[in-house]
Amino acid sequence: MTFVKNKIHTEIGTDLNLAADYLKKGELVAIPTETVYGLAGNALDTNAVLKIYQTKKRPSFDPLIVHVGGLEQVYPYVKEFPEELKELAEAFWPGPLTLLLPKQSIIPDLVTSGLDTVGIRVPHHPLTRELLMNLDFPLAAPSANPFGYISPTKATHVVDQLNGEIPYVLDGGDCQVGLESTIVGIEQGQVIVYRLGGVPVKRIEDRVGPLLILPQSSSNPKAPGMLKSHYAPQTPIVLGNLEEMIVKYSANGIPFGVLSFSKDYGRFQPKQQVVLSKVGDFEEAARNLFSGMRMLDNTGLAVILAEELPEENLGKAINDRLRRAAAK
Ligand code: TXA
Ligand code: MG
Repeated sequence: MTFVKNKIHTEIGTDLNLAADYLKKGELVAIPTETVYGLAGNALDTNAVLKIYQTKKRPSFDPLIVHVGGLEQVYPYVKEFPEELKELAEAFWPGPLTLLLPKQSIIPDLVTSGLDTVGIRVPHHPLTRELLMNLDFPLAAPSANPFGYISPTKATHVVDQLNGEIPYVLDGGDCQVGLESTIVGIEQGQVIVYRLGGVPVKRIEDRVGPLLILPQSSSNPKAPGMLKSHYAPQTPIVLGNLEEMIVKYSANGIPFGVLSFSKDYGRFQPKQQVVLSKVGDFEEAARNLFSGMRMLDNTGLAVILAEELPEENLGKAINDRLRRAAAK
């Protein structure tokens, strides 16, 4: 006998009460944040958390981030808040920074994949902050994409992939940062970056001094989700010198797309080319990265040719995503 899962109707809207009602009933709701859309459920309800892993088809060894409405709301869920990390929270929350803190037992082990730290952040989005303020539980929320695919930065991206899987998508418009949060923890007094993201490393170092950066940690057990091949479109991505690659692929007659930092190659069809920021602005480039990759992925190309950005500011995090997307 084959078992056919009943699909549910997925609605998009801005009704905070409806979103809150679903979450209180243990259902999942996609929520907007400044980084990417999250697939949210009650972080204190193991059944809701289980639904998140199932809906995302995510392995249970990859822990979830817990979202709260403000700094004060962190305390019930953590055993301690090291000074250095508190300073970062005060500087960057609400914002694209996740802190790894020793967890209290009220946070289910399923949320943290059995680790004794919990990743927590205060997202910077008016709708989601109001939602969090109206709930008496925090929200566990990974990015609202199937495991391994590109994170969604628009409500329609969520619906494209999770239609029929969740009842509601809270539409908060386009994500203003466009890259996932920077993940930071501390071990033996050393502040460590586990994932590059929306807060540039330099801005963190300005506060707490030199950081240890462990972002390429595909085998690092502390951040099991940082798999090398991630954030990936279906179409292969090749990184390199765009001028040279364009000559080579044109000669081969292979249908290709182009993703550049700031240079407009003009002669391509609009659906074949993405210029992340014509003025070379890193923040604009970050905002456009995932939607640009999605657009090229849906054009039916054989390959996407892309270039790395300068390794400064958000360029580091953008390059990290490009390299992961290009990894086999
Ligand atoms: O910007 C973001 O962080 C978005 C929005 C929705 O908040 N969320 C997000 O979640 O990117 P996700 O699940 O796609 O990525 C979270 C990553 C995972 O890869 C996981 O490895 C890491 O955070 N993580 C979470 N808790 C951790 C912990 N306790 N220790 C180490 N890594 C952790
Ligand atoms: Mg993700």
